[in-house]
Amino acid sequence: MKVIRGISQMRAFTKNARAKEQTIGFVPTMGALHEGHLSLIRRARRDCDKVAVSIFVNPAQFGPKEDFKSYPRHPKKDLLLCGRGKVDAVFMPAAKDIYPPHFCTYVSVSGLSDVLCGRSRIGHFRGVATIVAKLFNIIEPDVAYFGQKDAQQAIIIGRMARDLNMPVNIRLMPTIREPSGLAKSSRNAYLSLEEKQRASVLYRALKMARELIRMGHKDASKIKKRMQRLISAHKITVEYISMVDLVDLAPVTKLYGTVLIALAARIGKTRLIDNIIVKI
Ligand code: PAJ
Repeated sequence: MKVIRGISQMRAFTKNARAKEQTIGFVPTMGALHEGHLSLIRRARRDCDKVAVSIFVNPAQFGPKEDFKSYPRHPKKDLLLCGRGKVDAVFMPAAKDIYPPHFCTYVSVSGLSDVLCGRSRIGHFRGVATIVAKLFNIIEPDVAYFGQKDAQQAIIIGRMARDLNMPVNIRLMPTIREPSGLAKSSRNAYLSLEEKQRASVLYRALKMARELIRMGHKDASKIKKRMQRLISAHKITVEYISMVDLVDLAPVTKLYGTVLIALAARIGKTRLIDNIIVKI
């Protein structure tokens, strides 16, 4: 496995693979790898000749009051896990190379970036789209893998790739969960054992919504209220619960078609997100 820090070395890796007509699967991450990331790596390994993983805690996607400084960083463990996952190249660039002096070009996917998490995380998705566009330009993957855990992010990246004619397939992979149902996340490291147990109600609330829809309930606001009640009963502050169209993230009031049910909530200082996709 190659550990690559320079942009030109990363390009050389791609050039070499292309010369051999090999396909490249790419998994962008911010490190602190867990089973969720590893599921994407495994899928890339199955689909493609070469697998590249990036590990870069991207300052441009953190707000001034967010956890950029304290975000978990475990590069040694990450490299071990990538090695075990038979990754071919791990790209770990320096921030000064990614954002050199006078950097001023950003990608914003308007509309899609302003709803759901975008409401409270101003500029977050601009930071995400910009770094992912840069990584796509550097690595030039055939396929890039994203988790449903961050559904809005994956939808934004899919739209960016389509709108800007980027020659990459975006593949959405299922959310990997703890046995309790809690979605795996690097930020779960901030939670105490007791908070983790309480946080599992988020997925239970999503499953309850799915069950109500299965039973024939069609009124989004009534279902959201029941979810809100269940979650609040566990001393968790709901930031939003939304039922939206999977293509344009517009809210739906009467449930039909394919709906993304997404939520964000706070336990103490930790912000958690989760979602499910329901076909009605
Ligand atoms: P990060 O949070 O490290 O996540 C990297 C990828 O792993 C994302 O596609 C995310 O959706 C996926 N992932 C995280 N938890 C998952 C889970 N429980 N199950 C399945 N997939 C999961 O998302 C980012 O980094 C950054 O925004 C990035 C795209 C790298 C840009 O900086």
